[in-house]
Amino acid sequence: MYNKNFVWIIAAIAATGGLLFGFDTGVISGAIPFLRTDFVLTDGEVENITAFGLIGAVIGALLCGRITDIFGRRKVILVSAFVFATGALWSGFAPNANQLLISRLYLGLAIGVSSFATPLYIAEVSPTKIRGTLVSMFQLLITVGILAAYVSDSYFADNNNPESWRPMFYVGVIPAMILFIGMFFLPETPRWLMSKGREDEARKVLEKTEDPAVIKQSIANMRNDIQKDSEQMPWTEVFKPWLRNALIIAAGIMFFQQFVGINTVIYYSPEIFLKAGFEGNQAAILASVSVGVVNVLFTILSLFLIDRIGRRKLFFIGTTGICFSLILIGLCFAFSGMLGEYTKIALVASMLCYIAFFAISLGPLGWLIISEVFPLRVRGLGSSIGSLANWGFNTLVVWTFFKMIGGFNSMFGNEEMGTASTFWVFAVIAIIALVWGYFFIPETKGVSLEKIEEHWRKGGKPKDL
Ligand code: BGC
Repeated sequence: MYNKNFVWIIAAIAATGGLLFGFDTGVISGAIPFLRTDFVLTDGEVENITAFGLIGAVIGALLCGRITDIFGRRKVILVSAFVFATGALWSGFAPNANQLLISRLYLGLAIGVSSFATPLYIAEVSPTKIRGTLVSMFQLLITVGILAAYVSDSYFADNNNPESWRPMFYVGVIPAMILFIGMFFLPETPRWLMSKGREDEARKVLEKTEDPAVIKQSIANMRNDIQKDSEQMPWTEVFKPWLRNALIIAAGIMFFQQFVGINTVIYYSPEIFLKAGFEGNQAAILASVSVGVVNVLFTILSLFLIDRIGRRKLFFIGTTGICFSLILIGLCFAFSGMLGEYTKIALVASMLCYIAFFAISLGPLGWLIISEVFPLRVRGLGSSIGSLANWGFNTLVVWTFFKMIGGFNSMFGNEEMGTASTFWVFAVIAIIALVWGYFFIPETKGVSLEKIEEHWRKGGKPKDL
């Protein structure tokens, strides 16, 4: 029976997948300071533990396209919920650093899978009318997940208990169970059922989610789409010259989204705060909660701005702000001797500016633009190349952050200058992003996806869109 609210229930449950993605990437930040003492970790080992989760995500994102087509979206999300839950338990139980490494890799698989399968599931069960807002909603959920992880980390952080990191990981079981139980009762998507020739089942699902007046049309449209898909352009089309710009845009925006250093702040903020003189893990983790709150608030703001101000303007405003904030973060470290007690306030303020500018621009723009620049028939492949690039670049940055600081340390013989220079490197990358963006960020606001395809076919430049 048709029920308007049913779609929202479906979206809410499936969205837990986005929340888990944020939660399980963010949770590491509060755990690291405790892990350092409990397992006596070096900087390199901290980077490995963080990066292994991301490598898992790269593998998950690679496999996901095929397995969601073969087994269906619902089953894949169910299995990923199971991996999320067991991975959280395993991480919390880990008796030594090596097991933690492997458990993070395992959990990372679920993160990679859900970063692809959840938006796909939501988009395929939602009526066309509300589909558009969902891409940005997903970004919002990631940030809510990160904030939830910070708050829970801060709740469990106890300066007197070096094993405080264990319950931080265990908490991840709760949203994973919600996703698992919820998904158990939710239907498969009509689009996938149709693609397997199971039209009757598809109709039954549509009877619950769609206005009865449009069901017939929906089925006809899907049949049409699936027919078109089967005449698909070969996947190599993505690498043909006429789509070269789309590919450069997708990989480029993800490169800059990651190489301005966003996840050094998201995953390592308590560590950065400790370096700046915060005393005790608890205080440093609490300061990170403010980073999480600003991230959520400004992502909400971006939902309103993206279709009003447009992509290009937001890109330039955001990236310029990111660049200045990075210079400021560096200055806080470089002049910490002079700033004394004020270093902490100045650093928190510049980190908050940095996050705010990221959250209104590169954060949502990355995911939005990769879903817009490819023609329909290679859109799935194109955006999975984009998300793969995202996880790959993310791994690289997170894995080299402390190495860079160490490198600059020995160059200048001074830890503060080492950290400052690392943030200035990110600032230089932000400047390069501005130049790159001038040539490559397309203004897709209000332009239909067909128009974008036509533009590429005519050999148009991105900035002339
Ligand atoms: C990025 C993630 C990042 C998050 C922060 C996303 O757009 O892809 O790497 O952790 O934003 O909010």
